[in-house]
Amino acid sequence: MSNYHIKHLEEYYQVYRKSVRNPEVFWEEMAEEHFMWRKRWHNVLSWDFSKPEIKWFEGAQLNITENCIDRHLATRADKTAIIFEPNNPEEEAQHITYRQLHEKVCQFANVLKSKGIEKGDRVCIYLPMIPELAISVLACARIGAIHSVVFAGFSSTALATRINDADCKMVITSDGSYRGAKTIDLKGIVDEALESCSGVKTVLVAQRIHSEISMKEGRDYWLQPLLDEADLDCPAETMNSEDPLFILYTSGSTGKPKGMVHTTGGYMVYTAYTFKNIFQYREQDVYWCTADIGWITGHSYIVYGPLCNGATTIMFEGVPSYPDFSRFWAIVEKHKVNQFYTAPTAIRALAKEGVHHLEKYDLSSLKVLGTVGEPINEEAWHWYDDNVGKKKSPIVDTWWQTETGGIMISPIAFATPTKPTYATLPFIGIQPALMDESGQEIKGNQVDGRLCIKFPWPSMARTIWGDHQRYKDTYFSAYENKYFTGDGALRDEVGYYRITGRVDDVIIVSGHNLGTAPIEDAINEHPAVAESAIVGFPHDIKGNALYGYVTLKETGEGRMHDNLRKEINQIITEQIGPIAKLDKIQFTSGLPKTRSGKIMRRILRKIAGKDTSNLGDTSTLLNPEVVQDIIDNAL
Ligand code: PRX
Repeated sequence: MSNYHIKHLEEYYQVYRKSVRNPEVFWEEMAEEHFMWRKRWHNVLSWDFSKPEIKWFEGAQLNITENCIDRHLATRADKTAIIFEPNNPEEEAQHITYRQLHEKVCQFANVLKSKGIEKGDRVCIYLPMIPELAISVLACARIGAIHSVVFAGFSSTALATRINDADCKMVITSDGSYRGAKTIDLKGIVDEALESCSGVKTVLVAQRIHSEISMKEGRDYWLQPLLDEADLDCPAETMNSEDPLFILYTSGSTGKPKGMVHTTGGYMVYTAYTFKNIFQYREQDVYWCTADIGWITGHSYIVYGPLCNGATTIMFEGVPSYPDFSRFWAIVEKHKVNQFYTAPTAIRALAKEGVHHLEKYDLSSLKVLGTVGEPINEEAWHWYDDNVGKKKSPIVDTWWQTETGGIMISPIAFATPTKPTYATLPFIGIQPALMDESGQEIKGNQVDGRLCIKFPWPSMARTIWGDHQRYKDTYFSAYENKYFTGDGALRDEVGYYRITGRVDDVIIVSGHNLGTAPIEDAINEHPAVAESAIVGFPHDIKGNALYGYVTLKETGEGRMHDNLRKEINQIITEQIGPIAKLDKIQFTSGLPKTRSGKIMRRILRKIAGKDTSNLGDTSTLLNPEVVQDIIDNAL
C-alpha cells in the first residue's frame, strides 16, 4: 500500500514533495486504495479561494459509516471499536465490538427515521461522553442527517442559539450527566433552551443518571424503548462526497458562533490518513484521546479517524481529577493504552499535583503522546516527556482548528524528530505560508508572521452554515488566495513551525476557543454595566485566563463590587457556560479608546499581563487619562 504509513523522515520528505507537486494524483491514490466508495469521482479537486469554493472527489458517492463500520465486519467484527470508561471507576467499562457498533448505529438510525428525520435534516446532539454520543453521531451519518454536536458544558442560551442557527428538528440528550463528584441536569438545560426553539419537534432522552426529569408529551421520548423496538439493520444512505456531514460551532472574534460545515469524502480521507500516520496507529493498539466529542478533536480523532482505521478508541466520561489526580494513569494502565492524546491544560494541571500520582501505575504500554488545542510551554512539554513518556515516547504537538477538520502541522511519530514547543512540519499535502502585515509572503527560515495555508486540503470546512459571506470575510479576505488561520507562527532554521498564538480577538482558555465579543455582550446585559472589554492574560494552568475591564453606569465599591463580580460571572455562565467565566474583573472609570471609538485592547492586554513598561504612544487616545487610572487599580 503506497505511502499510507510513513516510517521515517526521508520518507516524509519524499511523500510530502509528491503531495504538493501533484496534490490531485496523491489524494486520488489515497482515496482509491484505502476507502470504500459507491461511485468514483469524476474530478479530484476544484477550488477557487476567491469565492471561496472547494470541492474534493466531486461526483463520488459513499457513506462514511460504511467506511467506519461495515467494511471492518469481514475482518474485525469481534474487535473492540469503542471502550467506554465511565466517570466512576467502580462502574465497569464497556467494550463495544465493531459488530455491536454496527447494530447499535443501525438501531439508532432507524429510530431517527421513525421520528421523521431525513437526509439533510439537522439534528442537535447535546450529550455527555457516553456511548450514545458516538453512536448518535454515526446514526445521523448513516441516514445522511447533518449532526450538530453541542458540547454539554454550554448553557441553555448558548444551546438555543446553536439549535436555531442550524434550524435543528431534533435534539438528542440525556437525563443528566456525571462530572467527577457532580451531576448536571442536562435535560433541564435542554427544556430551558427549547422554550425559544420552535423548530424542534422531537427530543430523544438517553438515561444515564436516573434522575427525575420532566418529559413533554408528544415531544420527548426515552431512547431505550425506541431502540429496543428498532430493526438491527439500516441500509446506509448514499451521500455525495460534498454533502454536509456535520456542523460544528466555533467562536469568532465577533458576533454569533460560526457553524463550520464539514463535508463527507474529503473529511473522511484526511482524518483517517492523519490519524494513522501521526499516531502511527497499528492494528492491535489501544488509542485514547481525552477530548470531548463536543469539540472537533473528538469528532476527528475519537470517532471518524480512528474508526475509519478499524482502531480501538476510548471514550472517557469523567475528568482527570476524579476520584483523584491519578485517574488518567489508572486508565492508561487498565486498558494498556498505546497512544495518548490530551491538551496542555490537562498536562499542566496534572504536573502541578506531583509525580506521585503517576508512580503507582504501569505506563509502559504508551508508545506515542500527543497534545492539541493550545501552545504547549517548555516546562509542560518536558514534564510530559520525562514522566509520562519516560523519554521514549515521541510527543506529537498537533496544530489544527475546528475549521481545518484535521491535523495540519505536527510531527509524525518516530519519523519527525521532535522539538519542545514546536508543532514541527506541515503534514502531507499542507502548504503553509507566513505573511507580513502588508500582505507579502515571508520566505526563508528564521522568520515569523501570520499563518496562512495556500492550497486546499481535503478536510477543510466548506462554508459557515447560513453565512457564506462570513466564511469568505473571516478566512479568505485578509490575504488574497490564502486561507488565514488567525494564528501567528514562527519558522526556525530547519523549517519547523512554532505556533505563537492568536493574532485576533479569540482567546484560548484551557484549550477552549473563546471570542471576546460574545462574553462582552453577555456582561453588558447586566443593568449596572455601561461597557466592558475582555482580554487574555497568562495563567499557569489554563494557558490564558480572562481579565475583564468593566465600566459601571454608576460607580460603587467594596461589597457592591464583590456582588457585581459574582453577578457578572453568573450572567456569563448563563449565556455561554462556565468555561467563559472571568478570573479577574476590574472596575474602571472608562476604557481607553481611539478617536474613532475603538477600544485599545493592546493596552488592556499589557496591563492585564502586568507589562506596563512599554504601552506605546497613548497621547492619541480619546481619553488618555483612563490609562493611568487602570494601571493604578490593576488586579
Ligand atoms: O490558536 C490555535 C490553537 O487552537 C486554535 C483552534 O481552536 P479550535 O478550533 O477550538 O480547535 C482546537 C483543536 C484542534 C488554533 O487556531 N491551537 C490548536 N492546536 C494548537 C494550537 N496552538 C498551538 N499549538 C497547538 N498544537
